[in-house]
This record gives sequence, C-alpha cells and structure tokens, in this order.
Amino acid sequence: MSFSMLRAPVCKAAFSTPSVSQFALRNQFRRFATGPASSEPVKSGGKSWLIGGGLLAFGGVGYYLYSTNPDLFKEAGTAAKSSVQAAKVATKFTPAQEDYQKVYNKIVQLVEDAGDYDDGSYGPVLVRLAWHASGTYDKETGTGGSNYATMRFEPEAKHGANNGLNIARDIMEGVKKEFPWISYGDLWTLGGVCAIQEMSGPKIPWRPGRIDGFATEATPDGRLPDASQGADHLRSIFYRMGFNDQEIVALSGAHALGRCHTDRSGFDGPWTFSPTTVTNDYFKLLFDERWIWKKWSGPKQLVDKKTGTLMMLPTDYVLTQDKSFKKFAKAYADDQDLWFKDFSKAVSTLFELGVPTQQFVSSEPWILKTKEEQEEK
Ligand code: HEM
Repeated sequence: MSFSMLRAPVCKAAFSTPSVSQFALRNQFRRFATGPASSEPVKSGGKSWLIGGGLLAFGGVGYYLYSTNPDLFKEAGTAAKSSVQAAKVATKFTPAQEDYQKVYNKIVQLVEDAGDYDDGSYGPVLVRLAWHASGTYDKETGTGGSNYATMRFEPEAKHGANNGLNIARDIMEGVKKEFPWISYGDLWTLGGVCAIQEMSGPKIPWRPGRIDGFATEATPDGRLPDASQGADHLRSIFYRMGFNDQEIVALSGAHALGRCHTDRSGFDGPWTFSPTTVTNDYFKLLFDERWIWKKWSGPKQLVDKKTGTLMMLPTDYVLTQDKSFKKFAKAYADDQDLWFKDFSKAVSTLFELGVPTQQFVSSEPWILKTKEEQEEK
C-alpha cells in the first residue's frame, strides 16, 4: 500500500478562495495576535468589558458572515476557537521569550513521558507533525505551510500522509490546555524544535507569530511526498516548497529518528539503531549497509541485508542513486557537523514556510535552551 492509495479525495472547499469577509475576519484576529505589548494583565470587572465587547463584536461579524456565506459556518468550531484565542489575547497577556521557553519545557516533560510508546519517546512523531504542518507550502500560490495549522481540519487531518499524527496532535493539545495563548502553528513547530534539540540534535532557530486559520485554508491532498516514488517526485514536491537538492538531502536526514508503522504508512521499521537520537547514522547506513528489497506483501521498501531490522524507503534509497543527491548524502555521511549545520538551517526555514515575515514577533529567530542547558545553570 502506498501513500497515494491511502489518500482521501480532495475537498473542493480546500481550493476555494477565502471571501473578502473572511479576510476581514482573519485580519481582525491577526491584529489581536500581534497586538502591542503590555505588561498589565486584566484583573476583573474594569476591563472585562473589553473582552465581552470583543466577543460581541465577533458575534456581529459572525452574523454578517453567516448571512453572506453560510458555508463558512461549517467551521463554527474554528470560529469559536479563534474567538477564544482573541479573547485571551484581549486579556493583554503578551508572551515573551521566557513564556515560550516554559512551553518548550512542558513539551520536554511530555516527550519524556512516553512510557512504552514506540522507542520510549514521542519526539519523532512530534518532528513529523511539525514537518507535515509546514511541508504543504506552495511558493507559487503562497498557500499551505505552518501559518494556519490547517491539519486540525478535515479532510487534511485525514489525508493518508497524516495517518497517525492524531497522536502528536493529542499530545500537543495537553500543552495547549496549559498555555492557551499559543497558536497551534507555533505550538506544533515548537514541538518539532524541542524534539530535535532534546534528542541531541542541533539548535533550531525558531520564533513565534503563526496564527490559527480556517478550514477553507486547508491544503489539498498530495502536497506531501509519496515514499514509493523516485527523484523526480522528490524534486517536484520540495522545489514547490522552495528547497533545492542540497536541502532535500539535508531534510531527509530527519529519518535518523523514529520508525515506520504498518498501521500508518504501511511501511515497517526504523531507519537507524538509535531512533531517538539525532545523528548522521541515516546517511552512514545508506552507504555502509547492503540494502535489499524486502520480501513481503507490504509496500516496496528496503531492508539491511546484515540484520534485516532496519529499513529504507524508496525515497531514502534514491539519495544514493541520483548523482546530485548522492554528492550531498555522501558529504553528510562523512561529516556530522556539516549535516547538523545544514539540517538546522533547512528545518528552521521549513517551519517558517507560509508565514508572512511581518507576523513574526522578532526580526531574528530565537535559540531556545535545552533542558540540560537550563539544569547546568
Ligand atoms: C523526503 C521525503 C519524505 C518522505 C517520502 C517521508 C516519508 C515518511 C514515512 C512513510 C514515514 C513513516 C510514517 C509512519 O508509518 O509512522 C515517515 C516518518 C517520519 N518522517 Fe518522513 N518523509 C520524508 C521527509 C521527512 C522530512 C523532511 C522530515 C523532517 C524534517 C521527516 C521526518 C520524519 C520522522 C521524524 C518520522 C518518524 C515518525 C515516527 O516515528 O512516528 N520526514 N516519513
């Protein structure tokens, strides 16, 4: 079974252009989400009219939208969530870097609390969530990417490529409860950053500013790579996001982490012997092991001849077959520092795809501290 077989039909609504009123509504939220800083929290009574007024105003806009575009109200859940978010922001709490560090620390706790799950960490599945939330970006139309966290909506949540990511979204929901002011796009990408850094990976520069969008902004199926395909497919998917060959190879090194699950993608097994540690072993193994096609009734994948316990997807193996990809893959196999440097840069770019620069709260991305660094202090 391949990704394409698992894919759900494309929802027409996903293609529809948001109406003027939707833009107006979204801009209203954007204003809230990037409002001016204030250190003064709203206590009670006095300013609560502000929140109530905001919600009333929201109700007015809502009625207008309903009367002009009833379809929009199929997204009532989103509207409600966004209004809650707007109300939170109306309490004038403006999170600072240290508040995001607190969210990061909470994610660390949950990642480590994985018990018997997979290899004992939720880290890899959080990285996959952050990547699938971002990798839908299309540079031609400016649609997709991490800005609107549209994987919350069907049909995007049900796209075959996103199978199993409900686990990661549920974990993140636990964090959102404690820090309701953070947008889903910021939360999910921060989850990816945190997982990579805590699993001994390089620092991933990151900054907040993504806002929650609407179901109409959900992306059509087919924007994420199909693991059963070759070099042309990889290029067409990643070039669409704005990446080049070197970046495609650098990003693929994320498969040092985690594993494939037969009940999610249909593929089976981990890529490396250390699936909860970020190393360049993925590249080393690609060149050092002999890879043979697995004999089974599942989708076409490779296994290592020596132990039969590791796997490579056709799209992983192609990094050793395509001349241009191979050059970079070999360089990363020979030099972990080089891969860390390029991986960090490419992941940071990936997680910002689709987010207008003016939405970010700072001109330069931040470097958040690992748990270990904070303990050393
Ligand atoms: C190059 C094209 C890519 C293809 C075709 C691909 C495909 C896949 C597939 C089929 C799985 C297994 C899902 C499952 O069964 O649970 C997977 C897992 C994973 N992918 Fe990719 N992927 C690609 C690129 C990336 C990128 C760019 C990243 C991150 C930067 C990434 C990070 C991960 C991680 C961490 C997992 C493990 C998830 C887990 O253990 O639950 N992948 N990928």
